[in-house]
Amino acid sequence: MINLGVLASGRGSNFQAIIDEIEQGKLKASIRILITDRPDAYAIERAKKHNIKHIYMNTKEFSSKDSYFEAIAENLFNEKVDLVILAGFMRIVGKPLIDAYPMKIMNIHPALLPSFTGLHGQKKALQYAVKITGCTVHFVDEGMDTGPVIIQSAVCAFHDDTEETLSNRILKMEHKIYPEAIRLFEQGRLEVQGRTVMIKDIPSRDYDYLINPPIQLTD
Ligand code: GRF
Repeated sequence: MINLGVLASGRGSNFQAIIDEIEQGKLKASIRILITDRPDAYAIERAKKHNIKHIYMNTKEFSSKDSYFEAIAENLFNEKVDLVILAGFMRIVGKPLIDAYPMKIMNIHPALLPSFTGLHGQKKALQYAVKITGCTVHFVDEGMDTGPVIIQSAVCAFHDDTEETLSNRILKMEHKIYPEAIRLFEQGRLEVQGRTVMIKDIPSRDYDYLINPPIQLTD
């Protein structure tokens, strides 16, 4: 059983997927706090519905990026958070939080890293006209989408996809692999060696099959 702290800026569908797996008993975790950097983040409504403590932290009330992230780290410590989950949090995490939670902050990115980093990963994949893209759960370091990869899922991109259709297809897989990555962490099965995240007790070939389902030609 681990304590989670979630940081979000918007819709919070990944936050919801994690809530759902906890409530279904599939994930042994407790979400101790949701922190948002926007007062209108829809994630707040989800927190209210599930009786999860939530706070809005306004960057303008802090003199620097470091002091903002120091305050976030303090709030997470106060809630005894073991693992920090970025769920659509639209900021680069500041060093004080990374130092407070080394290899204990996860993010999900809507592309197969290291491709299409930053915003609009799905749109960039379409513009490049790749046939396969996907999503990546990774540990967060000081770079943008550069930390060690935990798990990835491949998703087909079609020539007639729009940003919306592709994003929706990727999102379905996001909602599966994010709780899965947290579950592996909770079970103590993630071991980070340099850039490599080893998953204990799973032969890598079987695991690839599990996380990358056979290519789906339809939605
Ligand atoms: C997702 O596409 C995620 O990959 C990216 O931001 C989006 C957040 O969506 N980091 P949601 O707020 O979880 O619905």
